Amino acid sequence: MAGADVLIASNRGPLSFRRTTAGEVEAARGGGGLVSAMTAAAGDEGSLWLCATLSDVDRDVAGSAPDGRIDLAGYDTGGAAVTMLVIDAETLHGAYTSVSNETLWRLNHDLVDAAKPPSYDDQWRQDWAAYVAYNDRFAAAIADTAAPDAKVLVQDYHLDLAPTMIRERRPDLRIAHFTHTPWAKPQTFDYLPSDVGCDIINGLLGADTLGFHSQRWADDFGECAVAATGAKYDGEAVELGERRVPLRILPLGVETAPLLSRAAEPDVADRVRELRSSVGDRQIVGRVDRTEPAKNVRIGLVAFAELLRREPQHLDRVVHVVLAYPSRQDVEEYRTYTDQCVSTAEQINAEFGTPDWQPVLLEVRDDYPRSLATLKLSDVLLINPLRDGMNLVAKEGALLSPDSVLVLSREAGAADEMAADALLVDPTDVGATAVALHEALTMPAAERARRHAGLVATATALPPHAWLERQLEELG
Ligand code: G6P
Repeated sequence: MAGADVLIASNRGPLSFRRTTAGEVEAARGGGGLVSAMTAAAGDEGSLWLCATLSDVDRDVAGSAPDGRIDLAGYDTGGAAVTMLVIDAETLHGAYTSVSNETLWRLNHDLVDAAKPPSYDDQWRQDWAAYVAYNDRFAAAIADTAAPDAKVLVQDYHLDLAPTMIRERRPDLRIAHFTHTPWAKPQTFDYLPSDVGCDIINGLLGADTLGFHSQRWADDFGECAVAATGAKYDGEAVELGERRVPLRILPLGVETAPLLSRAAEPDVADRVRELRSSVGDRQIVGRVDRTEPAKNVRIGLVAFAELLRREPQHLDRVVHVVLAYPSRQDVEEYRTYTDQCVSTAEQINAEFGTPDWQPVLLEVRDDYPRSLATLKLSDVLLINPLRDGMNLVAKEGALLSPDSVLVLSREAGAADEMAADALLVDPTDVGATAVALHEALTMPAAERARRHAGLVATATALPPHAWLERQLEELG
């Protein structure tokens, strides 16, 4: 391809690859909200999506595709031109597992326990060097493939250093960075070694604009920039030396037509039938999440049990359907968390279940049609993260179900827009979550319909195409 006019850079791409027991390569859709959004928006002529190889099989596929272009190697990327950069296992471990997931993700989601503060040893410093190299790899690839004056949209905390690295190589390019997570509070960001904190802020300030899903996360970033580098923040932009970088609030929504048409496919209809036959005519409290401590799946289960204890009319009348995608199983905390969710579900089933009724159906597996079926059939959608950049599932769920009630954590970015129509809860308050679940399950039809219409309007207000366009327009 001649130089690309629009480049998107993200760690995870639209597909990941695995090998079947017969040794065949099989492509699967990448998990998480970022991929859903980018897949809906990235297919335009002249655009190129750069992502990383995240496994040995990804490396095999990308290594044998022309210039890493997996779309040209015959894989269905939904119409997007996609280059997978081959990142070796050691660099990936340092950059993705250690720095991005174990350090930055935890800080951004405020998952730091003051009683067990993080420490940074020589190994971590090597991992940080890998993070720098990884960002540099993206910057180099972008510099090599971008047309003159092209626009570059850099995504998320894996690539916080890339904006400045790109600018140094190609000052002609216009660069936007978007953070899909919350941003750390200043006192939490302070847990980073100060040189690293400074590098992260300076890396991001190489962009022409910085995007966030919520004003709350932008303000946290602004305050961290002030504390770490002495920059100025006035609520709209961060100023450091010569640079004044505006912070933009662009709450991502969902693209209606592709989501509805995917949900109308036969594999989803099969899953709907299966789910309905195991649940019968009982109500469904559904959720679809990665097995991720910040998503707070386990406290959701505990709150469901509390509901059954407090409101016995729901016994045998409701099922909590939890579809948990395995996520980041390289990180020990995620493996332990997954096990805890499974054992909590088993305890609830042992305590309340009967021969005819299993109160919790929890599945730890990556099954997109089953997720869509769960969202379609949910009477109540439970989304109670401890902290979450946006939570696109809250929006997808509204669109897919005819009238589900949303029980939503006030700590999700989505709460900014959905507060009036959802039932908001504190994610750590088990009793209040149980009360909200009861209210949702017993809500009169007219109120359900009214709230649901509001949720749908919010969910579709800024679909990925428009979200992306807005960033391109702002780059001029
Ligand atoms: C969040 C992040 C994304 C990430 C997704 C899935 O939504 O903001 O950048 O892709 O989680 O996580 P994973 O580590 O599996 O890519």
